[in-house]
Amino acid sequence: MKERIEELKMEFDRVINDANSMEMIDELRVAFLGKKGKVTDLLQGLRDVPSESRREMGIAINNFKEYVESVLQNKIQEVKALELQREINSAEKIDITIPSTSKKGSLHPISVVQKEVEEVFKSMGFIVEDGNEVETEYNNFDAVNVPRNHPARDMQDTFWLDNGEVLKTQTSAGQNRILRKYGAPCKVIFPGRCFRNESVDASHENTFFQLEGMMVGRDINVANLIYFMKTMLSKVLKKDVDVRLRPGFFPFTEPSFELDVTCPFCGGKGCPTCKHGGWIELCPCGMIHPAVLKMGGVDTNKYQGFAFGLGLTRLAMMKYNIKEIRTLNSGNIPFLSQTKTR
Ligand code: DAH
Repeated sequence: MKERIEELKMEFDRVINDANSMEMIDELRVAFLGKKGKVTDLLQGLRDVPSESRREMGIAINNFKEYVESVLQNKIQEVKALELQREINSAEKIDITIPSTSKKGSLHPISVVQKEVEEVFKSMGFIVEDGNEVETEYNNFDAVNVPRNHPARDMQDTFWLDNGEVLKTQTSAGQNRILRKYGAPCKVIFPGRCFRNESVDASHENTFFQLEGMMVGRDINVANLIYFMKTMLSKVLKKDVDVRLRPGFFPFTEPSFELDVTCPFCGGKGCPTCKHGGWIELCPCGMIHPAVLKMGGVDTNKYQGFAFGLGLTRLAMMKYNIKEIRTLNSGNIPFLSQTKTR
């Protein structure tokens, strides 16, 4: 019996070496461990073994059985890995060492400016939020103090969806949601794409980008607004610029301003870009109207704040001296890749 076990072990070692597929392994399992297999044969042979060595033989057969099981298990892992490799080799016909012919992409000029503005505001403690492109009528208009029939609605003709929602005409549409999310005090900016029903020309587009900002706190005032805008613009335009406020009107701010920046091309001396005035109109802003704060759930006895709606498209055009707004949405690669190295 002992010799028989030895023989079988040698036979097993020989055939398992040649097994290189799951089918072959399965055949071996059946041949050795199956109901009519060689190990079962051995066990049945125990009957004829003299009783004094039966126990010893039983242990020897069991050891052999465990040996076969564990070698089979290892072989399965090995063959599976081999089969996977074979599959990969036959499917993967790409030579990854061939040099690429595709050109490296670049960020869109508006993305570049947006990132720069975001970085400056983040460094000053502002949170950057996202906004929706499809907005409810309430958020886009009513919640920023522009109820139905308010004449200011006419200035922002937009695209209405069948379900009564709108493609947002201004990032201000996010104000209510932000106020409800963060409450007071808060410092948040939220860039986004806006849409208006415009006649398109060199300086008007139906699709453009703004970056809205809000800062609400106990005694936030116009001086804070001026400080943040001057700091941000100086960093983004990489020049020490000055800003000034002129009176403006927006239903969602009181008082409202137009913020001008010293012309970065002539430093304020006067040139064709600033129409020889030395200043460029850049960013409408103001102190948030109490009605807007209240609709956002803010206690106006305790809190006040400023808001601004920076024209990102306008800022990008100014920074890169782009005269034609339509080029920005044109998909013209040579034009758009000019920001690659900046
Ligand atoms: N939403 C205005 C627009 O698109 C811009 C604006 C003005 C935003 C004043 C503001 C603000 O936050 O305070 O015309």
